[in-house]
Amino acid sequence: MPVDEYPYYRVSATGNVLKIFIMGIDPGHGAEIKWVLVNAYPEFDGGNRLRRVVVMLTDVSDIRCADEQIRRHLEHLTALVDVDRAINFSFDLELSMTTLLTHVIVQLNVDAADVLLLDPTSQTLKYVAGRGFHNNLTEHKIQYLGEGYAGRVALKCSVIHIPDLEKEHNLLLDGKFQKGENFVSYHGVPLIAKGQVVGVLEVFHRTQIVRNEEWMDFLKALAAQAAIAIDNVTLFDDLQRSNRELAEAYDATIEGWSRALELRDNETEGHTQRVAYLTVKLARLFGLSDAELVQVRWGALLHDIGKMGVPDEILFKHEALTEAEWVVMKKHTVFAYEMLSPIRYLRAALDIPCAHHEKWDGTGYPFGLKGEQIPLVARIFAVVDVWDALRSDRLYRSSWPVEKVREHIRSLAGTHFDPHVVKLCLDSDLLAGQDYER
Ligand code: C2E
Ligand code: SIN
Ligand code: SIN
Ligand code: FE
Ligand code: FE
Repeated sequence: MPVDEYPYYRVSATGNVLKIFIMGIDPGHGAEIKWVLVNAYPEFDGGNRLRRVVVMLTDVSDIRCADEQIRRHLEHLTALVDVDRAINFSFDLELSMTTLLTHVIVQLNVDAADVLLLDPTSQTLKYVAGRGFHNNLTEHKIQYLGEGYAGRVALKCSVIHIPDLEKEHNLLLDGKFQKGENFVSYHGVPLIAKGQVVGVLEVFHRTQIVRNEEWMDFLKALAAQAAIAIDNVTLFDDLQRSNRELAEAYDATIEGWSRALELRDNETEGHTQRVAYLTVKLARLFGLSDAELVQVRWGALLHDIGKMGVPDEILFKHEALTEAEWVVMKKHTVFAYEMLSPIRYLRAALDIPCAHHEKWDGTGYPFGLKGEQIPLVARIFAVVDVWDALRSDRLYRSSWPVEKVREHIRSLAGTHFDPHVVKLCLDSDLLAGQDYER
């Protein structure tokens, strides 16, 4: 009968690949490892009794090796993709390097690894991230270019491999660092981005293992990724730096404009500076970010830029304004929009110049916005502006005492002002009448 019809007669080992040791004929030689494919079948006698099992072993070591290699390559590829993702989704170097080092340890089967970053100005290597160390001495170490293994890797721009640290007497590894680590061998790989050394990737082993070419290639592939990550982050830092420089240049320009405005306005000296300072302080209490506060400051400095469009005879009038004059005066918020909106970097700063005369109950100008329709920063600024205006002498009246101004502001909570903002401002100590400096 065909064996196939009696599946239980099959030998279950059939189809398995087994790892076997073949002892060498020469007892001095160790066992050789072979991978064999098992093919076994039972033979029965006439009475359906099992007579014997025929086992055939086919040496598939070559195929098996290729198979493992493919699997390893796949794992390596997956690791590289993972590292790539970590690098592209994060400007946090420590985080992406930690991901990278995890793969270094697992895929390269090493005991410890770290990444050092080269600071080009001080010519030193600084620790960024490490995995697998027993002590934390690497974290605090700063190595000079040319000093130690890492320093040499960076200076010579080449890989250093120390197969036996013991033999080298560890001259270049800090003795203190080695204590408790028991590293046996070392690899240091330079991290090169756009032809420049940006750092060093170090791997440490506590046992002596022979590394093949494939291992070395993968170490270099991971080092190349580390270099890209460092380059990305450095580019980002440089960009941030030039953004900061640009912001400082803008700030100086805007401050200059606001001084010029004050001159024309016959404004109490320092009004603009004071309201800008107070508004930023208060806006911070409301949780605005540093980036938002830059725009808040610019908006406050330029809040009355629209008064440039108000004729002298109205702006400098010593008496109360007529209704027709008020129509013109109120336009200073609209003029501000017309003047500032074409300037791209000031778009986000428009809220204060445009909306600082809007009122909580909707009776303000220019649009009669109501409640939270009014941007938060404009609601904050409105309180500060009135505070400082009343604390100052104007052509048409002299300054009010502190308590009168505080009382006045309190009385306008819910009509002119956002009551929540009034509470926070009056509770803050910022509107307390003491001299405040920028
Ligand atoms: P400003 O003098 O800097 O005043 C800003 C805001 O503070 C005013 O917005 C108002 O809400 C408040 N404020 C200022 N002074 C007084 C005051 O004496 N009493 C009260 N209750 N609140 C005061 P507002 O009213 O929209 O005025 C905008 C700007 O129009 C003022 O800026 C000022 O430049 C001008 N202005 C207002 N009233 C007069 C006026 O009677 N004569 C002249 N020449 N200009 C005026
Ligand atoms: C001013 O800066 O002249 C007063 C502020 C304002 O009109 O809002
Ligand atoms: C702003 O920050 O200018 C708007 C936020 C708000 O109105 O709540
Ligand atoms: Fe104004
Ligand atoms: Fe003002």
